[in-house]
Amino acid sequence: MKLTRAKALKGTLTVPGDKSISHRAVMFGALAEGLTEVEGFLPGADCLSTIDCFRRMGISIEKQEETRLLIHGKGLHGLKKPADILDTGNSGTTMRLISGILSGQSFETTLTGDASIQKRPMGRIIEPLSLMGASIESLNGSGCAPLRIQGHPLHGIRYTTKVASAQVKSSILLAGLYGDCPTSVTEPALSRNHTELMLNSFGARVETEGTTATIEPHPRLTGQKIPVPGDISSAAYFLAAGCITPDSELLIQNVGINPTRDGILRVCQMMGADVSILPTDSRTDEPVADLFVKTSDLQGCIIEGDLIPALIDEIPVIAVMACFAKGTTIIRDAAELKVKESNRIDVMVESLSAMGAHITATEDGMIIKGGYPLHGAVIDSRLDHRIAMSFAIAGMNADGETRILKDACVNISYPGFYRDLERLWRP
Ligand code: S3P
Repeated sequence: MKLTRAKALKGTLTVPGDKSISHRAVMFGALAEGLTEVEGFLPGADCLSTIDCFRRMGISIEKQEETRLLIHGKGLHGLKKPADILDTGNSGTTMRLISGILSGQSFETTLTGDASIQKRPMGRIIEPLSLMGASIESLNGSGCAPLRIQGHPLHGIRYTTKVASAQVKSSILLAGLYGDCPTSVTEPALSRNHTELMLNSFGARVETEGTTATIEPHPRLTGQKIPVPGDISSAAYFLAAGCITPDSELLIQNVGINPTRDGILRVCQMMGADVSILPTDSRTDEPVADLFVKTSDLQGCIIEGDLIPALIDEIPVIAVMACFAKGTTIIRDAAELKVKESNRIDVMVESLSAMGAHITATEDGMIIKGGYPLHGAVIDSRLDHRIAMSFAIAGMNADGETRILKDACVNISYPGFYRDLERLWRP
């Protein structure tokens, strides 16, 4: 992908369905009795990995259109042993959430994924799932995938996680469906709560108090209609682009603004961005809005603490925004960035520096001095979709040409990203 400076961005767009919600709709639909209809499904590579895993466990999933699925659920005990290893591709959500489900099955499964996923820490799910009674082995002894999981009858536990992670919390809660008593997970800060909301809509009993979620075992999950809102993590690239590109006005329609995910909107407000949130009707517990963004004079800000889990995937593009803000932006308490699809602290610091930004890495984040113009560079995405999209936004606001290597990785979460950007682009 080659990018040069854009004069303006104008128009209306609808971003693809929320990745987290799409994964969960397939998983919970498979474990429910009866039909689950999903509308607005994200046909990105990560969610296709989830579909593939459940098909291999005997679940019929029909694609009516690219974004409309019919899932013929077989109940909590209806999965069958897959004939082969399950491949979760690049998807941490698939690997960690499925591990919780597989812990409660009566068969053995092996899970693997691509080179990136084989480096991501799985000890954080192996420990609690083992405490619940599952046998889980990291086959190369590294604490990473491939994982061999032998399910067993599980015990309910009360578990406190070291990091705020919806993947870890969800994995434990899903295993808790198969427990002998309630299971509670307490996190240091509240992570995204799509699992809790959607499991309840399928008929489970999950209660949340502060940062503790508790699930009752053995509900009867019943198939549902799930409308998936647009992904705020995908909208974030256009919010950032709308703010920093001259003469821009963008309307981003039907975006999920769940308060556990809306950190980017809070950062826009802290930075003084011209963003209007126009709430629209939602058919589920997931709130939805249209977002209207205009070119803005941004100010640096401090991003830390409980806000981090609500914007963890948006930090790369927030770092790009910070380069265009007056003053300094400090991001801390975000060491989790080191164990995402790439080490996002190192990659952002190295690649934004290559474009002329004043950015330094810290132990748990980065410090960015805004106001230094960016120039084009060759950027290696490291096959990390959020790095590729963040640098497309930087490249269209830089002098000269920016080239993004391994650009096709945007298909992980946003298959039409370059097409949408081009449509709104005024050269
Ligand atoms: C996700 C949770 C987050 C996020 C990921 C999707 C989910 O990961 O980064 O893209 O769907 O639960 P962690 O839970 O590991 O922070």
